[in-house]
Amino acid sequence: MIHRALIKKAILEGRVKLLEHESINLLESYGIPVAKAELASEVNEAVALAKKIGYPVVLKIVSPDISHKSDVGGVRVGIDSDDGVRSAFNEIISNVSERAPGSRIAGVLVQKMAPSGGIEVIIGGLRDRAFGPVIMFGLGGVFVEVLRDVSFRISPLLEEEAYEMLRELKGARVLNGYRGMPPVDKSSLVRIILKVAKILDENPEIDSLDLNPVMSYTSGALVVDARVILRSMG
Ligand SMILES: Nc1ncnc2c1ncn2[C@@H]1O[C@H](COP(=O)(O)OP(=O)(O)OP(=O)(O)O)[C@@H](O)[C@H]1O
Ligand SMILES: [Mg+2]
Repeated sequence: MIHRALIKKAILEGRVKLLEHESINLLESYGIPVAKAELASEVNEAVALAKKIGYPVVLKIVSPDISHKSDVGGVRVGIDSDDGVRSAFNEIISNVSERAPGSRIAGVLVQKMAPSGGIEVIIGGLRDRAFGPVIMFGLGGVFVEVLRDVSFRISPLLEEEAYEMLRELKGARVLNGYRGMPPVDKSSLVRIILKVAKILDENPEIDSLDLNPVMSYTSGALVVDARVILRSMG
């Protein structure tokens, strides 16, 4: 029941957003595959965690006041040495203090770099006033941001409906393999979609979840970033 403790802690602290490592732990406790990550509060701890997790790693700012980490220079990918961790850590802190002054800093997330060659997809969930939990699926980057190519289903949803969400995207071909690429592992995406529905179903305090991106591979999938927003009380 680690997820219940995480949600209660955030509520007690008056937060409506789970911190990145909390969101990742919540997903992991539901058996969703996530890129391994831990929070470092200072640079030497970040180096120790990077060694423990194994290179290459990614460093990310963790702040209750920042939701788009890369917009403030808060994400560095592809770090492959202790020195790289040190300089990335310091760079991130200085970027954030410059571009998002006054933000509270919980620490820096040290995360395993996901293998290259995946396709970035987005899996989301929100609680609609009229329909209840609604699940969203889309392809990452321009597909969602520019083309708004997304599909929705109302929870509870059957496995077959989750497969339909993948099929009905205009860009569905991207998942089926193109330019000599093999198709992605659709069953692993469907399992994540169904688990997102289950999380919303079992945790009424959660208002929305945003798994963005989920790296989708020929075999398997991996969540590398997640945002969980709680319902604001009162
Ligand atoms: N562990 C990782 N392995 C590989 N690539 C990663 C990893 N973490 C992040 N990335 C890459 O960096 C990008 C930005 O990371 P992330 O989503 O964590 O930051 P963000 O600022 O929250 O982005 P957004 O606001 O768009 O959600 C991702 O879209 C992905 O391409
Ligand atoms: Mg993100």
